[in-house]
Amino acid sequence: MADVTAREGHFFSEPALRLRAASVRLSGAAGAIEIVGHSARLVEMLGKLEKLARYEEPVLIHGESGVGKESLAQAIHVLGPRRHRPFVSVNCPQYQEGNLTVSELFGHRKGSFTGAIADRKGCFETADGGVVFLDEIGDLSMPAQVMLLRAIASGEFQPLGSDMVRRANVRIVSATNRSLNQLVAERHFRNDLLFRLRYFLFEPPPLRERGDDWRLLLDYCLERLHQRYGIAKRFDADALTLLASYPWPGNVRELIGIAATGYALSDGDLIRAHDFADRLEQGLPAQESDVDVLFHRLQGQSGDFWRLVHHPFIERDLSRRDVRTLVARGLRDAQGSYRRLLELWRIPASHYQKFMDFLRHHRLKPQGFGDEET
Ligand SMILES: Nc1ncnc2c1ncn2[C@@H]1O[C@H](COP(=O)(O)OP(=O)(O)OP(=O)(O)O)[C@@H](O)[C@H]1O
Ligand SMILES: [Mg+2]
Repeated sequence: MADVTAREGHFFSEPALRLRAASVRLSGAAGAIEIVGHSARLVEMLGKLEKLARYEEPVLIHGESGVGKESLAQAIHVLGPRRHRPFVSVNCPQYQEGNLTVSELFGHRKGSFTGAIADRKGCFETADGGVVFLDEIGDLSMPAQVMLLRAIASGEFQPLGSDMVRRANVRIVSATNRSLNQLVAERHFRNDLLFRLRYFLFEPPPLRERGDDWRLLLDYCLERLHQRYGIAKRFDADALTLLASYPWPGNVRELIGIAATGYALSDGDLIRAHDFADRLEQGLPAQESDVDVLFHRLQGQSGDFWRLVHHPFIERDLSRRDVRTLVARGLRDAQGSYRRLLELWRIPASHYQKFMDFLRHHRLKPQGFGDEET
């Protein structure tokens, strides 16, 4: 720890140092929140976070996997007026089966569903006065969305199987790596709930847009590993060249894994590319935003399929995976019917055969949907 303290100005920006100090004051060294990096985008975001944390309005954090959404949620708690009250985190998909989500949020009475063997408080009550962190909010079931909306709007809710109305005063911070706008357009997420959750919006930038932060993060990880295992190691020049052009699809979480893999598998004190290269992903994840835009244009009937999708695909501007994603989303809205999809996208019915031939010929039919009907 001593050498990290000596070099902490090296790893942390001013707002990150304040955050670190506040978190240590609140819960000791083990609870330190450490946000490494000096890139302008990161520092700007932390400055904004410090300001908005002082208020009571709900916060939505939208960012790629592994960018630090949960750390930011904790930071909002630590820097806000509710810091001496609980921070309770709920992972939405983990409890996705109907009753379980609702019970996790609002509690239940004994016997209210199979498996409810005793009364149980939900996280709203446990967190009363504090902060509830709803992770992966995009996966929340519809019934749970309805109850959540009511709880936010009125502060009131009912545990499952109970007719007593309870109240809890919580600040809600939610996080998602999916586009909630898109889920709303697909009718998987309630628009009114989205408005309630998104008073303040944070979009932590992906690591590839944070300048040299990756280098600092690597040093930080190596320093931590050194402290824990007693051997100082560093990446050699070739390894750093390889990583300099790597787009980090899994962001900080992935970087931590790569540093640990390189550290563990390298024989001497130099980590070489071959020690970790097979962990690197090939290419970027599908550019969700481009696919989103296209999907909405197709749904909004403002363009035609042959120009917007067929042509860019043939020209290799659009990947097979992107087209499959588009078709799968469309089919979901069309209840699995290709003919209905043609109607939704205003493709003339006379193009049906041509459309199906195109999908078949280029292996663009998404998995999980039956064959076309006639
Ligand atoms: N800037 C940073 N400096 C140091 N560590 C960081 C930073 N950002 C994130 N981390 C660490 O990276 C890991 C991933 O962060 P976190 O769990 O907050 O991300 P997430 O966005 O919630 O990820 P996921 O989408 O996978 O749930 C954690 O171990 C966290 O402490
Ligand atoms: Mg997370």
